[in-house]
Amino acid sequence: MILAKKNNLISIRRLEEKDINELYELLQGLSEKAKKFFHPHSFDLNTLKNICKSKQDHYFVMTLENKIIGYSFLRLFGYENPSFGCCIRNGFENKGYGTMLTQWTTEKAKELGYKKVILKTYKENISAQKVYKKVGYKIIGETEDGKEYKMEKKL
Ligand SMILES: CC(C)(COP(=O)(O)OP(=O)(O)OC[C@H]1O[C@@H](n2cnc3c(N)ncnc32)[C@H](O)[C@@H]1OP(=O)(O)O)[C@@H](O)C(=O)NCCC(=O)NCCS
Repeated sequence: MILAKKNNLISIRRLEEKDINELYELLQGLSEKAKKFFHPHSFDLNTLKNICKSKQDHYFVMTLENKIIGYSFLRLFGYENPSFGCCIRNGFENKGYGTMLTQWTTEKAKELGYKKVILKTYKENISAQKVYKKVGYKIIGETEDGKEYKMEKKL
């Protein structure tokens, strides 16, 4: 999918093996605060290589003029409903890209035939909650330790 935003060429597509080094650099370059909120898996090269080969889960990258500025996924963990997660490259936040990537990935889940997308987000992660609410996710509970909200969107 290709979108034009403010004259910049944005594209969102599946993660490919050729993206791994750039994704590695994006993940390593996340701020300490972002890393506190976003730790879905290890950020080492081996993990990223394995992710690329996944038959069950779905991983995507968002590019701005061919530079990877976002990463998102739908992961099943053996369950029926995929879990969503995303991050935006350090320095590219608060420009609407996170909302765009969340919206696109959620629509992709529908296209793939899923009925619901679920996610967890730290209560302190205000910008993520703003994005998720804007895209239509609702808070349905919290984790046992009380630190995160559980959210979902029916498709
Ligand atoms: C969460 C994240 C994906 C959002 O991406 P983004 O590109 O910054 O999102 P957007 O620009 O579309 O929207 C961010 C919104 O939060 C708002 N916001 C940012 N910081 C805020 C703050 N401290 N208080 C209130 N609102 C805030 C912005 O104003 C914007 O809202 P608006 O569109 O109404 O103006 C991105 O910040 C990120 O990668 N964070 C680190 C990883 C992470 O936390 N991932 C989610 C794990 S659940």
